[in-house]
Parts: sequence; structure tokens; C-alpha cells
Amino acid sequence: MKPMAGKTALVTGASAGIGEAVARHLHGLGARVALAARRADRLRALAADLGGEVSIHPCDLGDPGQARALVPQVLGHWGALDILVANAGIMPLAPVAEADLDAWRTMIEVNLTSAITVAQASLAPLEAAGGGDIILVASVAGLAAAPTGAGYSATKAGLRAFGEALRRETARLGIRVTLISPGLVATELQAGIPHEETREALARWAGTMTPLEPTDVAEAISWCVTRPAHVCIGEIVLRPTAQDR
Ligand SMILES: NC(=O)c1ccc[n+]([C@@H]2O[C@H](COP(=O)([O-])OP(=O)(O)OC[C@H]3O[C@@H](n4cnc5c(N)ncnc54)[C@H](OP(=O)(O)O)[C@@H]3O)[C@@H](O)[C@H]2O)c1
Repeated sequence: MKPMAGKTALVTGASAGIGEAVARHLHGLGARVALAARRADRLRALAADLGGEVSIHPCDLGDPGQARALVPQVLGHWGALDILVANAGIMPLAPVAEADLDAWRTMIEVNLTSAITVAQASLAPLEAAGGGDIILVASVAGLAAAPTGAGYSATKAGLRAFGEALRRETARLGIRVTLISPGLVATELQAGIPHEETREALARWAGTMTPLEPTDVAEAISWCVTRPAHVCIGEIVLRPTAQDR
């Protein structure tokens, strides 16, 4: 019997990178997985690759209405929810003076507000299931802010504060809230930085180390959700060994 058999997991940002790896891992552990992201073609390809016990939920989490609709859609499909992995995120780094504030508003909506929305919607089904997991994918940027990361760090520090308060509110309901704070992970995230100088500086820095792979983060998340019910992992910070900040 696989450890997550009979459990349903919703993974946001499942079309690439960390979210895709998490979906693969949880499915491998026996969970049904609900995949959410904008790129429906990628979700369909992943679902086909995984085989059965997968649903896809194409949505733009930058749109508050679509964020609110996601958990009800998943419940409509599977009838229950045991694990939420709020992972979708973007990182339009730039110095504050040059930042496109519309892009930062979208980042706040996707990285922080949609995670809050989806987490809130998950509370009733998780309680109905007798408990479960809310995994919030934050970043080491939520622990220490640096130039060009003002907006991004604000979303991740915000997610960290939200998660800690939520953990305390739901502790007696059997709902575990875990913050995952990775350092550099080899994904598409950095390529999406619109500010050229920042993108190139980050690429140079990334070239000085062996980054984490998405599967490293997925393994940490899989470990958290397979702990005995009385064990709540509050936060995991994981970095490439050579990452010195
Ligand atoms: N890579 C790193 O070094 C690193 C380090 C620390 C933390 N993180 C965090 O890890 C999470 C995953 O990032 P990643 O590195 O795996 O990046 P990625 O490969 O770019 O994946 C990001 C995921 O988020 C989804 N997404 C973005 N905007 C969305 C929107 N408006 N609506 C719905 N889904 C959306 C993307 O799907 P679509 O484009 O198909 O919508 C994609 O599936 C993010 O929260 C990121 O901040 C990453």
C-alpha cells in the first residue's frame, strides 16, 4: 500500500519546475493529484505521462475569481482534499526605481494573495477530511531581502507570516501548515526576469554553483506530508550547498 493512497493533493504551478516535480512525487506515493497552472497543454502532457488519478485545472491565479474557483473545482472532481501545495509563483526582479509596478501587482496576486485564497478555501475540506497539509512554497528570499528582490521578498516574507499564523489557528484541527523555503533551484523562474541586467547578474551568480533540482524540493515536501499525523514540520529551508546567501 502506497503511503498517500486514497489522498487527494492539489498542486498549483504544476506545469513546470518545482510544482511538476511535486505532482510527480505525490502521484508516485499513491495520491490523486489535481494540477493547476495557466498552460493547459503542459498540464495535459503531465497528466498523460502520469496515467490515471490525475485531474487538470487550467487557471490564471493572477485573477482573483479564478483563484477562488480552484478549490471548489477540485472538490467537484474528487469530492475531497487532503493536501494543498501552494507553489505557483513568478519573480520579476528589478531595482525598485525601475520596477514595473503592474508586474509587481501581478506577482503579489499570484505569489501571495492567491496562496491565501486557495489556503482559505482548503480549510473546510481539510477539516472535513479529519486533517491534512497546507504546504506553502516560499523562498530564502522571504528570510533575507536583497537589492532587486524588494517586491519578491515582500511576497515571500508575507507568505511566511501568513503560514505561521495559519499554523497556529489550525493546529487543533489536525491541519499542518508547512513553509518550504528553497534557495536556488534549476527551473524556468530566472529566465522570466524581464529586467535584463538583473537576469544576467543572477545567471552569472547561478553559474557559480550546482543548484538544487526541483526533485530535491519535491522530496522535502513528500517527506513532510508522510510524517505521522502528530508531527508538523513548520518550515524547511534548503539551499544548494555552495549558496552563501
Ligand atoms: N527556482 C528557484 O530558485 C526558487 C527558489 C525559491 C522559491 N521558488 C518558488 O518556487 C515556486 C515554483 O517556482 P519554480 O522555480 O518551479 O518556477 P517555474 O518553473 O517558473 O514554475 C512556476 C509555476 O507557477 C505557475 N504560474 C505562474 N504564474 C501563474 C499564474 N498567474 N497562474 C497560475 N499558475 C502560474 C507556472 O505555470 P504557468 O506558466 O503554466 O501558469 C509554473 O507552473 C515559486 O513560488 C517560486 O517563487 C523558486
